[in-house]
Amino acid sequence: MKYIKLHNGASMPAVGFGTWQAGEQELEAALESALEAGYRHIDTAYVYDNERAVGRVLARWLSSGRVARDELFVVTKLPPTGNRADRVDKYLARSLENLRLEHVDLYLVHVPFGFQERGDELHPAAEDGSILAELDTDHASLWKAMERQVAAGRARAIGLSNFNEAQLGRLLAGAEVPPACLQVEMHLYLQQRPLRAFCEARGIALCAYSPLGSRGTSKLLGKELPDLMGDPAVKEAAASHGRSPAQVLLRFAVQSGVAVIPKSTNPARIRENIQVFDFELTDEEMTRLADLDRGPAGRIVDFTFLKGIDKHPEFPF
Ligand SMILES: NC(=O)c1ccc[n+]([C@@H]2O[C@H](COP(=O)([O-])OP(=O)(O)OC[C@H]3O[C@@H](n4cnc5c(N)ncnc54)[C@H](OP(=O)(O)O)[C@@H]3O)[C@@H](O)[C@H]2O)c1
Repeated sequence: MKYIKLHNGASMPAVGFGTWQAGEQELEAALESALEAGYRHIDTAYVYDNERAVGRVLARWLSSGRVARDELFVVTKLPPTGNRADRVDKYLARSLENLRLEHVDLYLVHVPFGFQERGDELHPAAEDGSILAELDTDHASLWKAMERQVAAGRARAIGLSNFNEAQLGRLLAGAEVPPACLQVEMHLYLQQRPLRAFCEARGIALCAYSPLGSRGTSKLLGKELPDLMGDPAVKEAAASHGRSPAQVLLRFAVQSGVAVIPKSTNPARIRENIQVFDFELTDEEMTRLADLDRGPAGRIVDFTFLKGIDKHPEFPF
């Protein structure tokens, strides 16, 4: 395993285990396989509605001594209904209870836009299906509440997800604890070069979500998704190293200094996705893959499944 150093001194494993769209039951089995395969970085979120399954598996591994708490790097995220300073305590407390942990290693603001709270609904929507957005989301006061989670020991590090460069820049200007990590969509066709340069210059680690192209979300997004694993350059590199296309995509990211959190519930693919530290792509292969960047046109997870959210003043894309 390779590690990425965060500015709080913690080491984030460069390959983590993604959990979006995995139901509780399948996730429990998958996380068992992942921990057995050597994953120690786990990425979940309050809105994935599966933290309890993560908590059950971690409790079994911790209580049996198969893993120590300080070997784990557990990440979860503040839901959009929690994007107000006075709601952060409550949502992190709920996540910690679900996860059966005293602290998370990294707590992320999941998205830069907020939703109204309506009971415990994760995605409150009007009758026509449009999201009940809260249009006055204020990042500065929200971040103060995130900083208090570090002081209280509930989060070792705090960070952001799906924020764009302008939003990140404004937040940094008033931050006492700068974000340790930015988690954004990043892969062969969306390489995020400007955002990466911005973060690298400020010591903010990057974590790439949907590194394999999120094939499973085609139905949710209501569109055909590009086939990253079928790209000729990926297939050729895979053949020349005797690896799978998925391993080439993941190796391309970690070899560029970025963490990845591929999701799988299939035990063989779970093992495959972490075996990316025993081969190296050549400079020619790295250049050929880098040239396939499509910039923002390569974005897959555009949040169109949240009807009307693109009207929010803090919609990032
Ligand atoms: N912060 C955010 O807003 C955000 C947004 C999206 C994702 N994420 C995080 O990032 C994680 C990964 O992103 P993602 O789930 O969108 O997509 P992904 O990891 O790019 O792709 C997952 C899909 O690829 C398949 N797959 C996995 N390994 C494979 C392999 N070796 N060969 C062929 N197919 C393979 C999986 O199917 P099987 O399960 O059948 O293997 C699944 O359909 C998420 O689970 C979540 O933790 C965060």
